[in-house]
Amino acid sequence: MRYFFTATLVVASLAGHVYGHRQVAPSSTEGPAGYRRKSLGFGPEHPHAVFHSTPYQVAPSGFTPQDASMDPFEVARIFLDDVLSVKQADSSSYLIRKDSYTDKNTGVTHVYVRQLVNGLEVNDGDININIKDGVVLSYGNSFFNGVPPAPFVNPEISTVRDPRQESCELLSLSLANLQRTSFVDSEQVIMGSAPHSSAAIHELQHMLESNCALFDLGDHMNAEDIADFRPALLKFMATATPNEQLARDIVKDFNSHMDSIRVTPVSHFSPGDHVQVAAFEADSVPDAVSPVKAKLAYIQVPNKAGDNTELHLVWKFEVEMQDNWYEAAVSASAPHKIISVVDWASDYAIAPIPKQPEVTPASYNVFKWGVNDPECGNRTIEKENIDSLASPVGWHALPYANDPSFKGAKPSKEFYRNTSTTWGNNVFAQENWEGQNAYISNYRPEAGKDKAFHFTYNPKKTEKPDAMDEAQSYINATVAQLFYTTNKVHDFFYRYGFDEVSGNFQQFNFGRGGAQNDAVIANAQDGSGFNNANFMTPPDGQNGRMRMYLWNTALPYRDGDLEAGIVIHELAHGLSTRLTGGPANSGCLGWGESGGMGEGWGDFLATTIRSKKTYSDYAMGSWAANRENGIRNYPYSTDESINPSTYKTLDKPGYWGVHAIGEVWAQMLWLVEQKLIEKHGFTEELFPPAPSEDGTVPHGDFYRTDKKGVLVPKHGNSLLVQLVINGMKLQKCRPDFFDARDAIIQADQVLTGGENFCLLWEGFAARGLGEDADVVNKTPWGGGIRTNGYSTPVVCGGTGKKPKHIVA
Ligand SMILES: *[C@@H]1O[C@H](CO)[C@@H](O)[C@H](O)[C@H]1NC(C)=O
Ligand SMILES: *[C@@H]1O[C@H](CO)[C@@H](O)[C@H](O)[C@H]1NC(C)=O
Ligand SMILES: *[C@@H]1O[C@H](CO)[C@@H](O)[C@H](O)[C@H]1NC(C)=O
Repeated sequence: MRYFFTATLVVASLAGHVYGHRQVAPSSTEGPAGYRRKSLGFGPEHPHAVFHSTPYQVAPSGFTPQDASMDPFEVARIFLDDVLSVKQADSSSYLIRKDSYTDKNTGVTHVYVRQLVNGLEVNDGDININIKDGVVLSYGNSFFNGVPPAPFVNPEISTVRDPRQESCELLSLSLANLQRTSFVDSEQVIMGSAPHSSAAIHELQHMLESNCALFDLGDHMNAEDIADFRPALLKFMATATPNEQLARDIVKDFNSHMDSIRVTPVSHFSPGDHVQVAAFEADSVPDAVSPVKAKLAYIQVPNKAGDNTELHLVWKFEVEMQDNWYEAAVSASAPHKIISVVDWASDYAIAPIPKQPEVTPASYNVFKWGVNDPECGNRTIEKENIDSLASPVGWHALPYANDPSFKGAKPSKEFYRNTSTTWGNNVFAQENWEGQNAYISNYRPEAGKDKAFHFTYNPKKTEKPDAMDEAQSYINATVAQLFYTTNKVHDFFYRYGFDEVSGNFQQFNFGRGGAQNDAVIANAQDGSGFNNANFMTPPDGQNGRMRMYLWNTALPYRDGDLEAGIVIHELAHGLSTRLTGGPANSGCLGWGESGGMGEGWGDFLATTIRSKKTYSDYAMGSWAANRENGIRNYPYSTDESINPSTYKTLDKPGYWGVHAIGEVWAQMLWLVEQKLIEKHGFTEELFPPAPSEDGTVPHGDFYRTDKKGVLVPKHGNSLLVQLVINGMKLQKCRPDFFDARDAIIQADQVLTGGENFCLLWEGFAARGLGEDADVVNKTPWGGGIRTNGYSTPVVCGGTGKKPKHIVA
């Protein structure tokens, strides 16, 4: 066990580490009059970051495959030693994150590694290693590789006191706080929702006894002795709040705002458990809706030459606000400098300007799976999916212990609580007309004992003043629809590999690993906006939150909850954010090309799910937006005159925003998909066949029989869904288009032995993302100068040309 002296770090000066980043204009989306959702997203570029997915890249210094039976984590450690030994100085280290996992179907182990320097996490120092049968298939690396700064020690203290005393004092203070908290909140303890477990107290006591006996831990500690992150936090809040009055007020009355923030040290066990750093929670932070989490960390900023990075000490905050959920890094030495910020909330669209305004399965009167919106079909009666893999207890049951709405004593013999409302293990669906954060007591339809969610949806012609009442009159139907679609998507993603260990959203994980208590909170007709939708993805173990809005683009209003494509797009943010860089890292798709692909995957999946055997072009959001061509620049189409997007399109003005970037990516995937369909055919049944009770999956006409029992979807469309999802697991944190392309190609290598290698390359090359595609002077938010590359590898009959600036 090692201790780190966070208290002494804070007062150290970081003079000389000056980093000025250019800040991207906040993007905002329109809502009701006067409402604009503000979202910040920017961070330093990592010129040294790589994703290597071919053997010659992976083993440059002769890393030899290990024995196939070797524990993949051992393989990872050997690989890390090999890779890092050349780069790493003695004071640096790393931890293997606990959210690493092995994919059940492919057998690939995804190992996530976080860099530590002087005992602090490097917030953007990540390695992901993909290992199978002793072989490192690929890895991404953004570890800081320069000379680490000296550990920060307060000279005043270090000359007179043993620096370990600081750490012990901090531990002692944490312990006192933990004990006090659990005493004061004893009622909560009984309810099973105490913020701190007695195990944590026990652990702290043990640590104190075994390490701090030498020190006099007197009563001279108080909060002021501890690092003060409040100035940095307040300055961030002044920047982040959409409330300009509040921002001015924070600046004006800085000290009184400082004084009203309450700081509580919390014991924080970082993922590896072998590091103990103090972390804090701050209550009563203006505009935050829950306590802010604060922790010291390093972040990488480009050096002067721009070819590498240097480390900067920061406060890392997690701030939940009404419309945003930020992970922000603010300089510890210069608290007015926000170095990076990721909004875990993703919007559906830059909204268009509105013209004028045994369970017995439950059943639902809904637009069924595959019917994108009310213009594509009528409602039918559909059944709850009780799938022994994806939803073993169906959609309307969850353990009492994991039910945040349950108060009182649990019936002694019962484990699961059955519901007859839109409340279950995967999804909590409800109206949210008030647009606030509370959801537990919001209205949801009650379907009675037979769980028949059959409600009227027959919107009448309205005039504007009545449009809201009219929409609210079918709230039963709309919440039921949202519940149905969201559960269906949960099960669909699950069956393609977004399961418990890879970070899916469930209250209860059935003992299958991963962090739980994180069902999707799905708000229908959310009052916080119009003509949009959004999804917030905190790390695994915290609820995702989806907000669906009404669209005032027609009369009667159109309800986004009824357009499956929008719901699928939103839920795909949860999928891609949890899979890229590992379940516990929500900071990998924040801005630029990676943020753009976060949008693109959603469009791609929504479009693929609705597509039919007879090819057709599709636009996103055309029903809700009441626009034939939807809300993107172009419909998705194989016809270049309808959708001309290429890789080079990203250079155009107007393409720095994530939605425009995403559209280019989705268009590329759409073309790749058509290539795969040409070769493998098309299945109308994109949903994998129902598993038997014991979880074995019949192949049906869906999977082909593979020698090793690996499930390989047979048809072109289902195959690409699988490759895209497997690719998310392989790619590095903050991938660019090249990384994501290479990860999909490698996913095919792993799944089929590379049968589609050339097809995939041809698909990407068709719109300029071939082997010789290139970008120079890239900026974090997607700037730079791109060259379309149309060449494929030589084995595919291409020229094999590589980008000019790469020396082969
Ligand atoms: C929930 O439903 C299941 C199956 O219908 C039943 O076995 C169980 O007893 C029910 N639980 C409660 C608490 O009613
Ligand atoms: C819905 O049903 C009606 C009546 O059968 C039919 O006229 C209409 O075309 C259907 N709508 C769609 C979108 O299929
Ligand atoms: C919703 O359904 C309930 C029955 O579950 C019914 O009492 C109520 O009137 C319905 N609400 C609306 C707005 O139709």
